Amino acid sequence: MIDVDAFTTFETAGWDATAAQYDHYWPILTSRLNGPLLDAVGAGPDTRVLDVACGPGYLAASAIERGATAVGIDIAEPMIEIARQRFPQAEFRRGDAQALPFPDRCFDSVVGNLALPHFARPEQAAAEFRRVLTAGGRVALTAWNHPARARLVGVLLEAVHEVGIAPPATVPAGPNFFRFAEDSELKSLLGNQGFEDIDIRTVEFTHSVDNGDELWDGLLHGTVRTSAVIRGQPDDVVRQIRAEFDRRVDDYRIGEKYAVPVSFKLASARRSGRHNG
Ligand SMILES: C[S@@+](CC[C@H](N)C(=O)[O-])C[C@H]1O[C@@H](n2cnc3c(N)ncnc32)[C@H](O)[C@@H]1O
Repeated sequence: MIDVDAFTTFETAGWDATAAQYDHYWPILTSRLNGPLLDAVGAGPDTRVLDVACGPGYLAASAIERGATAVGIDIAEPMIEIARQRFPQAEFRRGDAQALPFPDRCFDSVVGNLALPHFARPEQAAAEFRRVLTAGGRVALTAWNHPARARLVGVLLEAVHEVGIAPPATVPAGPNFFRFAEDSELKSLLGNQGFEDIDIRTVEFTHSVDNGDELWDGLLHGTVRTSAVIRGQPDDVVRQIRAEFDRRVDDYRIGEKYAVPVSFKLASARRSGRHNG
């Protein structure tokens, strides 16, 4: 059972604390999904794009490069501050994707890069995306694929599992992080909100890092729940997790570098003209 308020408070505090480090490690990876997301909604001149859970703002900025106007919204104020400094050409606001502070039908497109797995109430978020879209407007969302294919997160989760630790009491129960690795879950999420022309595809590539430290540090700063579980362990347990992690990461060593496979689901759909709201 998820305590929505406790989970949202925990996530917000976690993203507040890690925003600067997230911006250091992650946009080089997550920005590779910007093109597919913006293609899926047809972002271009004279379109109004909303980037939900925008983080440091790279997707909104890419929409502007295509001639669109873009607004980014994120629950973590430090993410919004970074985005505003980095991309003054876009508008950024703090807010919850599950209760969007915008009137009905004011965007042509809603995009969300790795946003869905972080919502306690994804159905409520999808209803909000529909509400703010114009009739015929498009939504596109990405989510991590299963850890067996998304090895970047898989190596860390398997290492934690191997060591066999329990989450500390400070980490509240949250939604299944890999729920939207299933096509059927994405289809029902969007279909139940009246979206049409639902398309689900898989986007895969490898992420290159110089060494295991870079990958470990990036993961501890790019995840909220898993990093809280690891940081809540005694030092000797953290060392065991790290040893298991290093052993798995070594599978992806190529010469002096590492090329770690990543895999995502990209769901897109059109808002029906027939539904009100
Ligand atoms: C994995 S990051 C993705 C950031 C960015 N979209 C990217 O691709 O780099 C997840 C983001 O979701 C934001 N977030 C989490 N819950 C949210 C909510 N309920 N509403 C808005 N943003 C939220 C976090 O603050 C964080 O910036």
